Amino acid sequence: MKLFFAYVLGLYALPWAVSGIQVVPDDDGLLQLRKSYDYIVIGAGIGGLVVANRLSEDASVSVLLVEAGELDDRAEDVTVPGNVGQESPSRYEWTMTTTPQEFLDNRTRSFPQGRAVGGSSIMNGLCWTRGSAADYDAWRNLGNPGWGWTDLLPYFLKSENYTMYSDTSLQNSLHMMPTHGKHGRQGPVQVGFPRYIYNQTYNFLAGIQQLGIPLNEDLSSGYATGANLIPASLVAGNQSRADARTAYLDPALSRPNLELLTGHTVTRILNNAVGNYTFQNFSRRPRGMPERVTVTGVEIAANSTAPKYTISCSREIIVAAGAILSPVLLQISGFGPAEHLRSLGVDALVHLPGVGSNLQDHAMVQPVYKYTAPDVFSALDIVGDVRDAVRAEYLTNRTGPWTATMVNAVAFPAFDEIPSQLLHLITTETNHHLPLTYDDTLRAGYAAQQNEIRALLSRRDVPAYELMVASWGQLAVSAMHTLSRGTIYARSSSIFDNDPPILDPRLCSHAFDCEVLRIGLEFNDRLVATEAMAALLPVPPAGLGAQDLKNRTALMETIRSMVHTEFHPSGTAAMMPRRAGGVVDTALRAADIIKMDKRESDQSPVFSQPPFEPFHRRGRLRLRRLILIDLSGSVIDLETVDDR
Ligand SMILES: *[C@@H]1O[C@H](CO)[C@@H](O)[C@H](O)[C@H]1NC(C)=O
Ligand SMILES: *[C@@H]1O[C@H](CO)[C@@H](O)[C@H](O)[C@H]1NC(C)=O
Ligand SMILES: *[C@@H]1O[C@H](CO)[C@@H](O)[C@H](O)[C@H]1NC(C)=O
Ligand SMILES: *[C@@H]1O[C@H](CO)[C@@H](O)[C@H](O)[C@H]1NC(C)=O
Ligand SMILES: *[C@@H]1O[C@H](CO)[C@@H](O)[C@H](O)[C@H]1NC(C)=O
Ligand SMILES: *[C@@H]1O[C@H](CO)[C@@H](O)[C@H](O)[C@H]1NC(C)=O
Ligand SMILES: *[C@@H]1O[C@H](CO)[C@@H](O)[C@H](O)[C@H]1NC(C)=O
Ligand SMILES: *[C@@H]1O[C@H](CO)[C@@H](O)[C@H](O)[C@H]1NC(C)=O
Ligand SMILES: *[C@@H]1O[C@H](CO)[C@@H](O)[C@H](O)[C@H]1NC(C)=O
Repeated sequence: MKLFFAYVLGLYALPWAVSGIQVVPDDDGLLQLRKSYDYIVIGAGIGGLVVANRLSEDASVSVLLVEAGELDDRAEDVTVPGNVGQESPSRYEWTMTTTPQEFLDNRTRSFPQGRAVGGSSIMNGLCWTRGSAADYDAWRNLGNPGWGWTDLLPYFLKSENYTMYSDTSLQNSLHMMPTHGKHGRQGPVQVGFPRYIYNQTYNFLAGIQQLGIPLNEDLSSGYATGANLIPASLVAGNQSRADARTAYLDPALSRPNLELLTGHTVTRILNNAVGNYTFQNFSRRPRGMPERVTVTGVEIAANSTAPKYTISCSREIIVAAGAILSPVLLQISGFGPAEHLRSLGVDALVHLPGVGSNLQDHAMVQPVYKYTAPDVFSALDIVGDVRDAVRAEYLTNRTGPWTATMVNAVAFPAFDEIPSQLLHLITTETNHHLPLTYDDTLRAGYAAQQNEIRALLSRRDVPAYELMVASWGQLAVSAMHTLSRGTIYARSSSIFDNDPPILDPRLCSHAFDCEVLRIGLEFNDRLVATEAMAALLPVPPAGLGAQDLKNRTALMETIRSMVHTEFHPSGTAAMMPRRAGGVVDTALRAADIIKMDKRESDQSPVFSQPPFEPFHRRGRLRLRRLILIDLSGSVIDLETVDDR
């Protein structure tokens, strides 16, 4: 049965092929759902799919997975690595927009999220790397025992099937050598390398080395600085995208205890609290606020005018709707900053200041140093007849430029020693740039993060910024350890009116982040001047020529106009102590929302945020932290991020 489904899906990719698992309306347009499930997972993105897969391994429990998007159609714009950034599947994109970014240029920024089974892994850039060991150890230091590098490594191994290049001469020339004991071979996420490498990639790697940054033989070993070709989440054999759906859903297709409902949004998480808990004064626990709130189920609907369904849950509700919509759903369900909930007309059940705060992201600029040497062939040349030929080669032989991901190679330079000006910025600019709405707990949590970040940036093995090179001369720079923090607030108590919510990443609200980008752009300027890169005759973009870099005022203005998200929002329901603005504990439960008590332990649903430990019940195998998909090498991503 399992084989049959997997086969049909791979071959024809028709939605009916998954009817074994997918709940679709019957002839009367009604959904044949059970009244109650043991587990309800909200969001079939990376986190939700992993959880649903693992939970449904136990045939005695029922699992419902609810996703607003649809199953993707496996079309070429999804599966072909060479289409990333060229012909992207925007039909699976949730086009969110930020508020005007006042610390940049007052313009809004696009902030897309994947809206499909598989979440953003359906459309991301396939880059597959881990952070430095010290990055994860910083998570642990922030009050999360069990979340350091050595704790997580087994789950990294468990997640991946890592396949090296078979071409040993290439491996040797680039010093690529997977570290012993640091890679998995049995995991569900296929990881490999594109067969095609653009010639310019070698210029980049040579130039980087000329500037003293060594090749890193394995970017995922826990020592993340240096440069090299970047591993990709693709099937090595046929060079097609490997995503959360192929890794965690397709293999579970035959399980009768797992049901997938697409095209439906969870409008509210239901609870058993009775009465009106709206309260006025939040500086102390208000009278009438329930001692214990148990969530009992969810309400779902296809859209704002469609009928609503209520589904009960007997064990746990797992909130895995991503860094943007998870906090929104929690807020409109009564869990969040009480004052804001009140302004929405939502009864505040638990005052949780951290829900929607601590938003952080990698700030990025993507300048293009157009290569004008006559013989340069780049992804931008794949048009017309060339496209036909490239496509034919890919489909026939699984070779050629369509196997290449947009980002062929990366460099992760470290500061080693934080430049004194920047150190000054970190030390003096402590708290005043935070949103006024941050309370003392969030400020305390921020101060702790800032200490960790300062320590990390002083290390040789922790990158300060990332350079991502695309074949046409784009040298993107992203800040890896950012100090700006933003907010996400529900706009209305209807989930459907939150497209987007009030989303304010406050990019570069801490001046440090844009300064790191400046240092990266100055590095680019030296890089394009190296002998290896100069051979490509690169032309810097307007405002970023060698002369422009000399006027700091003008340069910072240029940078601020260019900055946008690297699509790595995180931290909005942080795993940290409550006194530090945290929302979930190290078991990823919003612990004092539902005080687990022995009598009730089988009945009490709890909230979890990805990553992935919705349960660890006494007397059963503890599947702790099954996987942590971290594509960015970032720190303080206190929840799994949808990524590209
Ligand atoms: C590539 O191979 C994988 C694993 O064998 C398979 O599941 C998938 O359907 C293939 N993809 C394409 C686009 O052929
Ligand atoms: C952005 O708007 C604020 C408030 O209107 C203003 O003070 C600031 O100068 C503006 N910044 C830019 C770069 O235009
Ligand atoms: C791992 O990848 C190799 C080829 O790269 C493939 O032959 C093997 O079947 C894969 N294993 C799993 C468990 O997916
Ligand atoms: C890449 O470089 C190799 C070796 O110099 C050359 O043979 C090949 O034609 C180049 N490829 C392209 C597409 O220019
Ligand atoms: C709940 O209580 C508040 C404050 O007492 C009141 O303003 C509000 O109307 C009440 N809501 C309902 C639904 O009764
Ligand atoms: C809220 O409670 C605090 C602490 O009990 C008290 O000092 C403050 O005056 C109260 N504020 C209002 C508006 O009642
Ligand atoms: C809303 O959902 C219902 C039920 O699925 C559907 O019939 C209707 O067309 C949808 N409306 C819109 C505006 O999409
Ligand atoms: C596939 O590879 C074969 C052998 O290298 C080659 O002869 C053929 O031209 C390739 N097909 C396409 C469509 O590129
Ligand atoms: C630097 O740039 C600023 C802003 O564009 C401009 O006002 C100033 O005249 C420039 N300074 C020099 C020395 O060119």
